[in-house]
Amino acid sequence: MRRVPLAILISGRGSNMAAILEASRNPQWPGQPVLVVSNRPGAGGLDTAAKAGLATASIDHKPFGKDREAFERELDRVLARHGVEFIALAGFMRVLTAWFVRRWTGRLVNIHPSLLPKYPGLDTHARAIAAGDQRAGCSVHYVSEGVDEGEVIEQADVPVLPGDTPDTLAARVLEEEHRLYPRALAKALRAYLERKDGAA
Ligand code: GRF
Repeated sequence: MRRVPLAILISGRGSNMAAILEASRNPQWPGQPVLVVSNRPGAGGLDTAAKAGLATASIDHKPFGKDREAFERELDRVLARHGVEFIALAGFMRVLTAWFVRRWTGRLVNIHPSLLPKYPGLDTHARAIAAGDQRAGCSVHYVSEGVDEGEVIEQADVPVLPGDTPDTLAARVLEEEHRLYPRALAKALRAYLERKDGAA
């Protein structure tokens, strides 16, 4: 089976990126990470990726000001240069325009730290605690034009415990994110290979 050339987009520490890189060491895993891109030049995850021998790029969004599409056109050029066919967003803190999302539809996935459709957007753990939810979790989903609204691929859940703060709950959810993302991403990559190449 062919492995799909994959880019991982980050903005920070990149612990989900590291989990994906680890999974991809198995030759049966259907993606081949070829590039890690950050929109923040100081993102800790860039070092982790470089140490793992991966190509990295930092494309600072700030010089593009409000012109989101100009930033994305540059991003798209870098992705093309590396032969990328599929993108995993992993803590990438930029909302993408309809132009970019349409261009990558079905080949663009994200991890979100809530049980979607609950709590799209920010502060998911604080909102789950404030609502008195018994379960919290994470979702891997296709990216669509609405923020955190695309089709869910897979979810994982954890209990909300008495005395939980947003930080303690986030740590419990993050452990599940690291298990969920490589698994759900593999599923999406296999579906893509089937659609594109007719591969099993
Ligand atoms: C994760 O909780 C992810 O779900 C959210 O941002 C965080 C990124 O963490 N979108 P990391 O950079 O992968 O460590």
